[in-house]
Amino acid sequence: MALTRAAIRKPPQKSSAPSFFQQPIHPGSAISASDFSVPEVRRILESADVLEKENAFRRAERLARRRVALLFYESSTRTRTSFELAAKGLGADTTLVSSLSSSIEKGESLKDTGITLKALGAECIILRSPYSGAPYLLAQATGLPVLNAGDGMAEHPSQALLDLRTMLQFLEIPARKISDKVLRGVTVSIVGDILHSRVARSNALLLPKLGAKVILCGPPALLPETAACITSGLMIERDYDAALRASTIVMMLRIQAERLAGLSVDLDDYRTRYQARADRIAAVAPKALIMHPGPIIRGMEITAEVADGPQSGIAQQVHNGVPIRMALLVRALGATKKGGRR
Ligand code: CP
Repeated sequence: MALTRAAIRKPPQKSSAPSFFQQPIHPGSAISASDFSVPEVRRILESADVLEKENAFRRAERLARRRVALLFYESSTRTRTSFELAAKGLGADTTLVSSLSSSIEKGESLKDTGITLKALGAECIILRSPYSGAPYLLAQATGLPVLNAGDGMAEHPSQALLDLRTMLQFLEIPARKISDKVLRGVTVSIVGDILHSRVARSNALLLPKLGAKVILCGPPALLPETAACITSGLMIERDYDAALRASTIVMMLRIQAERLAGLSVDLDDYRTRYQARADRIAAVAPKALIMHPGPIIRGMEITAEVADGPQSGIAQQVHNGVPIRMALLVRALGATKKGGRR
């Protein structure tokens, strides 16, 4: 609605409409893995399958000319590229705003940036932020669907969904079978810097909902006992070999040096105790799928031999980023009339 003098003179109306300053979270948002019900997880993964197989021309009609803003306040290779490729593959117009070379550098707030992007016609915002909770603030400030591309140490829900797709492919379970029991009998160990990992948190919230047993493994400095409170049923195991032995799937994590402030971790000791090495994997987990959300630090948490080896699902995880993020964008924005929904 255009801003006119008459509109300004009109006294504020009592309305059930939400305040411009704090709007309800758009239901197409994806901010936390805990937001997804099991049927919704199934629908997202089924949609990813459909979108991946769809004819590229037809797919490009789904979000034709819809406007998607990528707001990246932190560096990213996989998430940014796959969200951008996903949006473009669906026919959307994308614009990238990064902290360098935008008014964020001049001190503009997240809220004002969001309102600005909305005024410019953005219909969906994909946000990566170093601050936990930032996607909620942006969603409330704009009323737009916000897709969380990683917020601080809190969550990375699209990563958890693409990780789930990778696990189901490994287990040869089709998306239509997703239920609260689909991962019964499957044990997933998440190993390393749990404390700083938004990927660990989102996976720990998602996988038990589907029946998986989740073991968190790492030294006390990177895995405090309180991590078991992320959700019920999580186990803490300090002994890496014991965790490996119990695992169907092992998810290795990078030590997040950029968030280590104040913590002292003996990296040589860490490598000895927690590194995924070929001899160790062959001895205690020869059939497990080895995953890593990336970026990987070869020679630190994982050796090149394991990262590039036959048990590695790392490239498949990256591949799954595009279909999962296409499904999240379609969920957020619906489709154009030509695409069928809306
Ligand atoms: N897994 C992940 O979030 O990687 P990027 O930081 O490269 O996006």
